[in-house]
Amino acid sequence: MEDNIVWHDHKVVRSQRAENKNQKPCILWFTGLSGSGKSTVANALDVALHNRGYHTFLLDGDNVRHGLCSDLGFSDSDRVENIRRIGEVSKLFADAGLIVLSAFISPFNSDRRMVRKLFPAGEFIEVYMNTPLATCEERDPKGLYQKARAGEIKQFTGIDSPYEIPAHPEISLDTSSTSVTDCVESLMNYLLDRKLITT
Ligand code: ADX
Repeated sequence: MEDNIVWHDHKVVRSQRAENKNQKPCILWFTGLSGSGKSTVANALDVALHNRGYHTFLLDGDNVRHGLCSDLGFSDSDRVENIRRIGEVSKLFADAGLIVLSAFISPFNSDRRMVRKLFPAGEFIEVYMNTPLATCEERDPKGLYQKARAGEIKQFTGIDSPYEIPAHPEISLDTSSTSVTDCVESLMNYLLDRKLITT
């Protein structure tokens, strides 16, 4: 099938789209257990960037699984496909010149590596939410850990489905010991230090 599809170059290129927005595109990829604070920190960072005038877009598991990935479950192969789709969508948003924040458990190293490879060096920032399982389970904001422990949900990450710890994340954050405000400050400083943002 791909043999019969020819890539069509766009007249407006990626760098021009970013230039019009006065910013450098990049992706912050939040990975970690359910309840580790991915969506909370990504949302808070999104607000901080938006308030400074940056053009951003936030993708997160719970929302995307209602639409783009509503046909996928939580088997290993469905999670692989979920992350493949999100990686490609994130790339399109970055090509549009946006700062992308993607918050998905993304439990497998190989999938995160695959998404990293879609981006130019320095543009993919892996943010590992290093919050201990015990804290995530104690928080249990959606009551899913309780259901998983009771066997009512199968293949739940951290309980009976694996989470592979990132070997070399750009940033690690533990929301059991660091406030959301401090997490956002660390991320903003990271972006400033690398000149991905300027204010
Ligand atoms: S991923 O593994 O494919 O990256 P994703 O981030 O999209 O997962 O979705 C995770 C969210 O789905 C969790 O925050 C949780 O609310 C919900 N969920 C429902 N069932 C499961 C499960 N078996 N394992 C993990 N999360 C689940």
